[in-house]
Amino acid sequence: MLSGTTLGLLIVLAIAFLSTCAQNSQARLTLENGLKSKVYLSPKITQTPGSVSNKFYYDIDFPKGHIAIKSFNAEVVDEDGNPVSLKETYLHHWVATRYYQRKGIKNPKHSGNFGFHQSDFISAGNAGVCNNGLTQFFGLGSETRKTSTHVPDPYGIEVGNPLEVPNGYEEKWVMNVHAIDTRGVVDAMGCTECRCNLYNVTEDEYGRDLKPDYVGGLYCCYDETQCKLKNGVEIVKRNLYLKYTVKWVDWSDAVTPVKIFIFDVTDTWQQNGIHDCLVEFNVEKSKSNDFISTRRSNASFPISGDVVYGVAHLHSGGLGSALYGEDGRVICASKAIYGEGNEAGNEAGYIVGMNTCYPKPGSIKIAKNEVLTLESSYSSEKSHTGVMGLFYIMVAESSSTLDASSLIHQESEIPIFFWGVGVFGLAIFAAVMVSYMRRRQSEDGYHSIAN
Ligand SMILES: *[C@@H]1O[C@H](CO)[C@@H](O)[C@H](O)[C@H]1NC(C)=O
Ligand SMILES: *[C@@H]1O[C@H](CO)[C@@H](O)[C@H](O)[C@H]1NC(C)=O
Repeated sequence: MLSGTTLGLLIVLAIAFLSTCAQNSQARLTLENGLKSKVYLSPKITQTPGSVSNKFYYDIDFPKGHIAIKSFNAEVVDEDGNPVSLKETYLHHWVATRYYQRKGIKNPKHSGNFGFHQSDFISAGNAGVCNNGLTQFFGLGSETRKTSTHVPDPYGIEVGNPLEVPNGYEEKWVMNVHAIDTRGVVDAMGCTECRCNLYNVTEDEYGRDLKPDYVGGLYCCYDETQCKLKNGVEIVKRNLYLKYTVKWVDWSDAVTPVKIFIFDVTDTWQQNGIHDCLVEFNVEKSKSNDFISTRRSNASFPISGDVVYGVAHLHSGGLGSALYGEDGRVICASKAIYGEGNEAGNEAGYIVGMNTCYPKPGSIKIAKNEVLTLESSYSSEKSHTGVMGLFYIMVAESSSTLDASSLIHQESEIPIFFWGVGVFGLAIFAAVMVSYMRRRQSEDGYHSIAN
């Protein structure tokens, strides 16, 4: 029996423990059949009407230990925890990925990406296929509220395996959130499409001149840029957070691991044999009465296995996307869901969700080196700038190919220090850096992104 004093002490301790949790991550822990769930908040995102925030948050709160992630959901909330409408704050994208940081090294600053030693940070992102970016485990944009992310049983995304962390390093997570405040702006859709004229921008984030034909995209809506406001709009600051909910189970033999792959419709693999993923592209306004603009790319798949989950990522104007096998079979088709009202999660004119695929286990297989075709369709009734055509799939690798030689081969194929310059942060979201590096390498500047 507990004495009254002991019980009192336990309650005090329990409250102290709970309030520590609340302070650290504003988190709650629940358990059902081994499934754990925790709600976290990103660092504070301060915005004013028309402002852009595109920051990297290193060492974010994340479940610890050797676990299997079962889902990762996110949404933008205000200081009272209320969901914020896309019509006020457009969530251009958020991405979260894993990295290894040398012990004893300080966390990088939120956006200062330059000047630290690359070997202190090792990218530990997804399984492919882009060569120099799009390495995130999780990431969505405006569609985040109505897009399923759960990994069906018996599958899970294995993280926190101490045997995989290089000696002297720790496993951490980094998040990039790109949010555009469109309150009081002259052209909300134009601001969300990062049209350069609305941002009064002639140089990119690094002070390099933009090409005159670069009309819109990430080079014009980088961190702390400002979209054009209507006259007389009052500049009031407000603080927002990306609230993210992670569900997981402890790692065990009962979990079948899945690998995450991302395809990009701008991938140049068919042309040059490398997965050069340009991330963004533009859609021209149609000059005929066909208002569907479809883009395709091919990419060979590095492993064989069963597809467990699939979803596309598109921007406003996007209709749908599909991934096909070499024989033309549909691996997954994912359609855009548009909102119809004003409230958060149902904003008219915005993509508020994407259909997902959960094939019956074992029913959709991909063979090693099979050439897959990704197709993304946009409405071309209007022109669109800075749009994307990505496709995420989760694949459980077939045991038949899991012999030692293929494992060794794979490990040597994944370039751990693939980041050639002393820049870690932007590796997470490739768009800016890939093009920046390309620009440093080539005389003719931006040949890639504005096509
Ligand atoms: C646009 O940028 C120029 C140069 O940076 C600046 O002088 C001008 O005031 C800006 N215009 C607006 C409307 O912000
Ligand atoms: C993809 O490969 C198929 C089959 O070889 C080919 O017909 C098609 O033109 C390719 N598509 C692209 C976008 O390169």
